[in-house]
Amino acid sequence: MEGYNLHPDLIQAVDRILLPQEKIQARIEQLGREISADYSGKSPILVGLLRGGICFFSDLLQAISLPVEIDFLSVSSYSPEMQEIGYVRLMKDLELSISDRHVIFVKDIIDTGLTLNYLLRTLKTRKPASLEVCVLLNKEKRRLIDLPLRYVGFEIPDYYVVGYGLDYQEKYRNLPFIGMLKAEMMRNNH
Ligand code: IMP
Repeated sequence: MEGYNLHPDLIQAVDRILLPQEKIQARIEQLGREISADYSGKSPILVGLLRGGICFFSDLLQAISLPVEIDFLSVSSYSPEMQEIGYVRLMKDLELSISDRHVIFVKDIIDTGLTLNYLLRTLKTRKPASLEVCVLLNKEKRRLIDLPLRYVGFEIPDYYVVGYGLDYQEKYRNLPFIGMLKAEMMRNNH
């Protein structure tokens, strides 16, 4: 992790860098170009999920060359037990109407897919003209529900990752890369 000017507490939590900053940025540029071509002549609404998704959302937004609007959702899981069976609570709803609009749901990471499944079901009831998903990281191996993912940044292995907006117990969001969290950091907190 040479070359990064980070506090030792941040550096020592990371096992290794999975995706360096330049690789993330290059892939987002590609995704932006792809979305701009696919939605040519349209003005989609990008819907982001607070808070882990903010870095990806902001960079993707700037990589899209179309007129777009943006809005945000935030959810909280009821409890670890309820989370396991896919219950999430909407903490902040959209402010825009998505009825008859082309919606791109932008998400940082898909693990079991339960959160996304709930959110897509909720958004579909509002009758958007179309609804597609753009996700930066996909942990396919952990998937419990089959979900249609139109745009995927990277397929990643089944490791807990932090940085670039992603947290572990609210920490490490400000790492400028995506790193694998050391296993002992998770054990120390349980
Ligand atoms: P789901 O299992 O696909 O419903 O994902 C639930 C949420 O868990 C995601 O939106 C992330 O906030 C979080 N999550 C899952 N895997 C990771 C990870 O490796 N690092 C950080 N957060 C994660």
